[in-house]
Amino acid sequence: MMGPRVGLLVLALALAVGLLSLVREPDVSVNDATTRVGDGAYDLEPLVSPSLTGWPLKVVTKVITASPFGPLILRLLINDMGLHMVREFAAQLPRLTPMYYPMIRIKNDEKAAIAAETLSDLELAMVQEGIPSKESSAAGYFTAYDYRRAYLAGHMDPSRAMEAVIRGVERLDPHLRMFSAFDKEDVRTQAQASAARWKAGEPLSVLDGVPVTIKDMIEVKGQPLTNGGTVVEIPDRDDEIVRRLRAKGAIILGLTVMPEGGVTPLGYNAHLDGTFNPYNVTRYSGGSSSGCAVAVASGISPICIGFDGGGSIRVPSAMSGVFGLATGFGRIPFDLGLALTTIKSGPIAASSADVAVAYAILAEDPDPEHFYAQLYDGGNGGMPPATLAGVSQTDRLDGVRIGVYWDHFRDADPEIVRSCEDALGALEALGATIVNVTIPHLRIMSMAHASKILTEFAMLWDLPYSSGNVTMEANTLITIAIGKTLTANEILAGERVRHWATDMIRGLYAEHRLDAIMSPSTGVRVPAIPADSRKIGESNNPLVLQVMKYIFTANLLGMPGMAVPVGYDSDGLPLSAHMLGLHWHEHRIMRLSFALEKHHLKRRAPPKENFFNLREELKL
Ligand SMILES: *[C@@H]1O[C@H](CO)[C@@H](O)[C@H](O)[C@H]1NC(C)=O
Ligand SMILES: *[C@@H]1O[C@H](CO)[C@@H](O)[C@H](O)[C@H]1NC(C)=O
Ligand SMILES: *[C@@H]1O[C@H](CO)[C@@H](O)[C@H](O)[C@H]1NC(C)=O
Repeated sequence: MMGPRVGLLVLALALAVGLLSLVREPDVSVNDATTRVGDGAYDLEPLVSPSLTGWPLKVVTKVITASPFGPLILRLLINDMGLHMVREFAAQLPRLTPMYYPMIRIKNDEKAAIAAETLSDLELAMVQEGIPSKESSAAGYFTAYDYRRAYLAGHMDPSRAMEAVIRGVERLDPHLRMFSAFDKEDVRTQAQASAARWKAGEPLSVLDGVPVTIKDMIEVKGQPLTNGGTVVEIPDRDDEIVRRLRAKGAIILGLTVMPEGGVTPLGYNAHLDGTFNPYNVTRYSGGSSSGCAVAVASGISPICIGFDGGGSIRVPSAMSGVFGLATGFGRIPFDLGLALTTIKSGPIAASSADVAVAYAILAEDPDPEHFYAQLYDGGNGGMPPATLAGVSQTDRLDGVRIGVYWDHFRDADPEIVRSCEDALGALEALGATIVNVTIPHLRIMSMAHASKILTEFAMLWDLPYSSGNVTMEANTLITIAIGKTLTANEILAGERVRHWATDMIRGLYAEHRLDAIMSPSTGVRVPAIPADSRKIGESNNPLVLQVMKYIFTANLLGMPGMAVPVGYDSDGLPLSAHMLGLHWHEHRIMRLSFALEKHHLKRRAPPKENFFNLREELKL
């Protein structure tokens, strides 16, 4: 309990702060539509805001969530973030409607052009047979294709393979804490069924018998679902994602750890004390699909399916040295998570080829009755088709155009910048053209993203928060409290910015005929976990902003984005480049990932200690 003196001090502070904390109004002198807030120069400055761990975080959380001064302190924090600038900016866009969903309906001729891109034999084979990823396999990862080849050759059957994988989980999970639910018997039952199909010569697809892990916010029938929190539900049905995977024979290996509600891209869950980075267990794994990326990085499953509302697929992929595709908004149908307009699903995988196969399986045949298809056009002709056209054409990249906003690209740790510049150079050497672009008002866009994701998060957690009877991490409580405090004006202004930014960025892609905009995936190298955040967690918005500075655009605007490993830093931790793609053009950024994997990523190295090597385990 707080001593009376500490209590008084906090009260006095809260009073002082509180008296200054009214909603900060827009600057009314900024009303000339030609001089939008700032001049459009690079403006993603570091955030100056307190970071807290340990007991100070506990005290502040108490004051914020359970004292009359809470709302005033929250308002001060929100003012500090600069939300008034979003309102100033939005006020200068009188003709633009607020955009609620970032669902982009494209013209029929564009849709027809995507549909007309035909698959090469190799791309077709990738979906039907799997394709080798020689690069990843040679590095020691056991890809979905490696599983298939070993099953086809009779070197192992799914039951023997899963017994080995179970041993791998039992060996590594105590150090890495990647699984929130892992049911050996259920895995064995699925493996037996797959083994029977293989024996009969009737595997269901390239994924038959391949272990796939699932983020703990996607329903798997009978497996405890926690969304990273303390309330456990046992779903009586599979999510559409899981249904699609099972229909292809994939083995659902288990559910993977995520931070509570997916609230932080650092990836740590204080209730479960994990996940840890397999390259160095004193570091964050990145999140929020933390256990998901680590299950892939540690060799346990070649593919994991995550969700990404603010980098949650791409950030942990980047920090764990694997590939992660956050698809465009609405591309992959799912049942839970529809309430967040920033969220999309996608695969995290050990190779570009495994990303492509999982993508093709999850995104094929949009269900015309699904909410996303209805949102697109109510089933009148359907969404633009998902295709892998061109992804395997990597020996030359002539005609491929990659945008770079150098001020943004170079605003990261020097080792990250150098490594991403090398990767860009490799693409250029293959014939790609680099185009200088400018993306104005990133700061305002990042605040618009924050206003959306924070308020939608607060909506989802409204009742558990208000009831006060659910144990939550301090950082979750503060995040919900901030989301509840944002005003309707701020949220609607953010939606107007979403509309403006969508037009602006689509204009850039059209003007320069871009296939992708490339940047680093994160602004900082893999951070260490502060010792005193192990029990209580960490609230560190400046760090979070540095982690998210390249990836939020894809969430605010519903565009696909992909994290691609490009090397390792001087501490041996992974480095990653980010490819931002145009709506409905996932295949264009996947092609760049294939090219980098094949021609650039020469020294791919799985974690030395925390790695499960199926080849060695089964002496294949
Ligand atoms: C693109 O930007 C880079 C870095 O600022 C600069 O060196 C280069 O000259 C620019 N290229 C063009 C064509 O403007
Ligand atoms: C919390 O309280 C609400 C409303 O009283 C109740 O419906 C819910 O079941 C409670 N949750 C827990 C975890 O006790
Ligand atoms: C792991 O990271 C910590 C910093 O978090 C560092 O002190 C330590 O030397 C690293 N360990 C290895 C084996 O590199």
